[in-house]
Amino acid sequence: MNILLLGSGGREHALAWKIVQSAKVENLYIAPGNAGTATVGTNVALAASDFPGIKKFVLENNVTMVVVGPEDPLVKGIYDFFKNDAALANIPVIGPSQEGAQLEGSKDFAKAFMMRHNIPTARYKSISAANLAEGFAFLEELKAPYVLKADGLAAGKGVLILNDLAEAKAELQGMIEGMFGDASKTVVIEEFLTGIECSVFVMTDGTSYKVLPIAKDYKRIGEGDTGLNTGGMGAVSPVSFVNKTFRQKVEERIIIPTVNGLKAEGIDYKGFIFIGLIKVDGEPVVIEYNCRMGDPETEVVMLRIQSDFVDLLEGVAEGNIEEKTLVIDPRSAVTVMLVAGGYPGDYNKGDEMTGLDQVSGSILFHAGTTMKEDKLVTNGGRVLAISSYGKDKNEALAASFSNANLITYTGKNYRKDIGFDL
Ligand code: AMP
Ligand code: GLY
Repeated sequence: MNILLLGSGGREHALAWKIVQSAKVENLYIAPGNAGTATVGTNVALAASDFPGIKKFVLENNVTMVVVGPEDPLVKGIYDFFKNDAALANIPVIGPSQEGAQLEGSKDFAKAFMMRHNIPTARYKSISAANLAEGFAFLEELKAPYVLKADGLAAGKGVLILNDLAEAKAELQGMIEGMFGDASKTVVIEEFLTGIECSVFVMTDGTSYKVLPIAKDYKRIGEGDTGLNTGGMGAVSPVSFVNKTFRQKVEERIIIPTVNGLKAEGIDYKGFIFIGLIKVDGEPVVIEYNCRMGDPETEVVMLRIQSDFVDLLEGVAEGNIEEKTLVIDPRSAVTVMLVAGGYPGDYNKGDEMTGLDQVSGSILFHAGTTMKEDKLVTNGGRVLAISSYGKDKNEALAASFSNANLITYTGKNYRKDIGFDL
């Protein structure tokens, strides 16, 4: 097979690392990729949402499967673009249709979907300019803190959590008036939930499904989960508070109704469903859906899949995932993300990186790196994910932290408390 993987982050390096372990793969292309993906496949200088460019590349290079990393091409309809083009229609795209991608692309769509299928989620109201007064009234009904979510994609910045009612009203108005452009013309106001979060990944062919290893990510920049939100500073799998009973509840109350609901509504969905969950008084509640794998969760999830991942991807494409086997590694896997100084605020790019060749006992997944002449340099806020196995999370973390020490670049920063709450 010739596979084209779209994206350029740590998630894509981890997917690429796992994909090329399959004997089924002849060529792996990554568009646009990074310095890490270039070590396991061939980078292609194409943006992940350049549909005409992707079409040309796929046809010229006899690509037989497209795997989509980030949400953007999915929300823009890459699945439908292939399906509706006679020359591309027989090439499977791993990822949902544009309609299915609305689970991530529109919070209002996702909430209404959960309501229709009795999937547990926070109480909410969708507000736009036409019913702003209802929004104020709903905020008055709720207790602080107040959760405001831009309906559309806002590069991970569209959720505001506010402690003060007057401030929440002002921010609601500001969002509707364009704080996040069109993405916040509609705002979902939600009841605040208290609990501990985890990420559940489902691979579905639209009828059946497999549940991948469950992970927990660490989104805040500061230790003890403080400070600004980032794209993710680390992840751990398995997650100690996810026991058999809880897992069963997740499957019965959330995964099955989600897959069946998509099917019943005639929504084409052959790809990953990422369910952001919170455990509230022992019960699972959905915080959000994403239509892709998580980053940095993929940098631990891929380590824990022992089966041929490409065989599973074929199951998604061919509609026989039920017949595939998924063997999960019993060991723990963790990842620690090295980031640029200043991130998630302003940060430098182009700083030379050294010490990667000193690393042993961990797997390095590049997130934001590139080659400048013959030097490896930083090229993003999240720079490098250091993933490790261990008999438990502490052993795995010890390996990642000691290797984190060996890598140098100006402004290097990382959280030293990944997994602290488990
Ligand atoms: P989202 O983009 O929906 O995942 O929201 C970003 C983060 O905000 C989540 O990972 C949670 O930590 C937090 N969050 C979102 N919704 C709620 C809620 N209803 N109650 C408490 N925290 C929330
Ligand atoms: N780690 C969370 C995300 O990928 O959205």
